[in-house]
Amino acid sequence: MILDGNLDASVQAAARALQRGELLGLPTETVYGLAADSDNDAAVAQIFAAKGRPANHPLIVHVADSAAITRYAKEVPVFAQQLIDAFWPGPLTLILPRLPHAARASTGGQDSVGLRCPSHPVARAVLAACQRLEPPVWGVSAPSANKFGRVSPTTARHVADEFGDALLVLDGGACEVGIESTIVDCTRGVPVLLRPGAVTRDDIERACGLRPLSKEELPAHTPRASGTLLAHYAPNAKVRLMDARQLQSALDILGSEGRHIAVYHRSPLRSTAQGITLRAMPAQALDAARELFGTLRDFDEIGARLIWIETPPDTADWEGVRDRLQRAAAAG
Ligand code: TXA
Ligand code: MG
Repeated sequence: MILDGNLDASVQAAARALQRGELLGLPTETVYGLAADSDNDAAVAQIFAAKGRPANHPLIVHVADSAAITRYAKEVPVFAQQLIDAFWPGPLTLILPRLPHAARASTGGQDSVGLRCPSHPVARAVLAACQRLEPPVWGVSAPSANKFGRVSPTTARHVADEFGDALLVLDGGACEVGIESTIVDCTRGVPVLLRPGAVTRDDIERACGLRPLSKEELPAHTPRASGTLLAHYAPNAKVRLMDARQLQSALDILGSEGRHIAVYHRSPLRSTAQGITLRAMPAQALDAARELFGTLRDFDEIGARLIWIETPPDTADWEGVRDRLQRAAAAG
């Protein structure tokens, strides 16, 4: 059932559903989440079951404000606090050392916890309402509301399509950011970028004075992030990434038969193929992120079997979009 997330009655109903241990489709500024009370192990187990997600992939705990951090994290390094001050509420998740009894099922028993304070007004209203309940719900675990390995949802309709009408979904409109939050591991003394997103490597460096390392620059490490599995975010069609010249050659070779092929391009292209779908990618990275997952879903819906995408620039602002496209291509 989809409820209007802008109505107070819907927000209250959603908070009480979370308190009872039920699941909720929750809009955030990045993507829609499949939410449950972080400290209710049975409720959290339902998230893993509904998504078909392996239990050793930890979930992000969403909090109403930075005061709630102390319920989940043992300590907050100085550079992490600077990132919180700069980017919360917003699309940034921090991995912090976990308090022993907090969010156990949600973190798969790992000694760290992922915390995020979303900026979407409906998410903020739900999290605030949760804190006012008796007993309160302090943290809300929410992975993206898609089946494991699939494209993340950016509208309430995507969530209902994926999980059916029995799930309560708050409609908060189309997501502004469109790709999942940036994840920074703050448990290693220096910031480590686990998943790129709208908060870029450059933004992080400006806020805390430290250039984040990539996972690959670290010695062998344990936490596993499903957003970091190579084949992820995959549409049904096969995705191929090409530069502008390769893309034009592929179209030239193709000739006149273009059905089942969708092209997402940045440079001007020529094609005489019949039935081909050509869509231009927005010129700005933030705009491209916003429409990325919806576009992949549209291509699936029109029956594309091949999706050819022009590789975005190799700059920090495009890192999040590039990352999601590379994963989608690796899945094929
Ligand atoms: O934008 C987002 O972050 C969205 C919205 C709903 O907030 N959520 C989201 O959740 O993308 P999910 O579960 O699809 O991705 C969370 C990622 C996973 O790859 C998970 O493994 C990683 O965060 N993660 C969570 N806790 C972690 C931890 N303690 N250590 C390492 N990685 C962690
Ligand atoms: Mg996900």
